[in-house]
Amino acid sequence: MNLQGKRAVVTGSTKGIGRAIAHALVREGVNVVVSARHENDIRKTVDDLSQSANGKVVGKQCDVREATQVRELISYCVDKLGSIDILVNNAGIGVFRTVEEMSLQEWRDTLATNLDGVFYGCHYAIPEMRKNGGGFIINICSLAGKNAFAKGAAYNASKFGLVGFSEALMQEIRYEDIRIAYIMPGSVDTDFSAISGKASWKLSAADVAEVVIETLKHHSRCLTSRIEMRPSKPPR
Ligand SMILES: NC(=O)c1ccc[n+]([C@@H]2O[C@H](COP(=O)([O-])OP(=O)(O)OC[C@H]3O[C@@H](n4cnc5c(N)ncnc54)[C@H](OP(=O)(O)O)[C@@H]3O)[C@@H](O)[C@H]2O)c1
Repeated sequence: MNLQGKRAVVTGSTKGIGRAIAHALVREGVNVVVSARHENDIRKTVDDLSQSANGKVVGKQCDVREATQVRELISYCVDKLGSIDILVNNAGIGVFRTVEEMSLQEWRDTLATNLDGVFYGCHYAIPEMRKNGGGFIINICSLAGKNAFAKGAAYNASKFGLVGFSEALMQEIRYEDIRIAYIMPGSVDTDFSAISGKASWKLSAADVAEVVIETLKHHSRCLTSRIEMRPSKPPR
């Protein structure tokens, strides 16, 4: 895909991986809608990213747990930028507790953010992409979508679910020139989880963004659908 002038929505793009992806897209000349739950962070991100933008940067508040807000986010992209060519479903949370300790609300929030939110985004973006002759959906999954661990039940369930969702959706839309890829990073150096902490051996958010850009640039006959990426030298 030639990225110049394309129109993208990145969910959860005020911090971490989503912000790095939005930044990389605008440097490539893509017009981007930045979004997350907190309005102040959105304003600041739009200002910061506009400094290095080849493309246009706009912002819209959206909690991906709410279907109506996701519908409005996709409509906002169509109204402000003309259509939507790229949807990056990145917003995600991790609550790491035993099943016994996890509250019902934490369970629901994890599934609602990491899985329902992706469904809403695809549900509302696909008809717009179809009108436009095609598009690209990138789901930010995790190696936790194939490797289960203690205290990861909610997170693992959401990311294992996202793998199945992404593969099923690929079968539905591939003949309509809508490609879908899911990226499974290992530990990335962001503020994502208080328990994981910062460390120099981790992947950077920019590493994930680079893979997103490469994937989008592949020839339209080529669909790199599942991408695993991991730190090359984690602690032994
Ligand atoms: N960091 C890692 O080690 C790692 C590894 C593999 C995969 N991942 C995945 O990568 C994605 C991004 O993680 P990250 O490390 O960049 O996290 P992060 O630094 O915590 O950033 C998360 C972003 O998502 C937004 N967000 C959270 N809940 C949201 C909601 N309900 N609706 C809309 N936006 C929401 C946050 O902004 P607001 O709080 O303002 O909404 C923020 O902009 C997640 O899907 C995560 O599962 C992370």
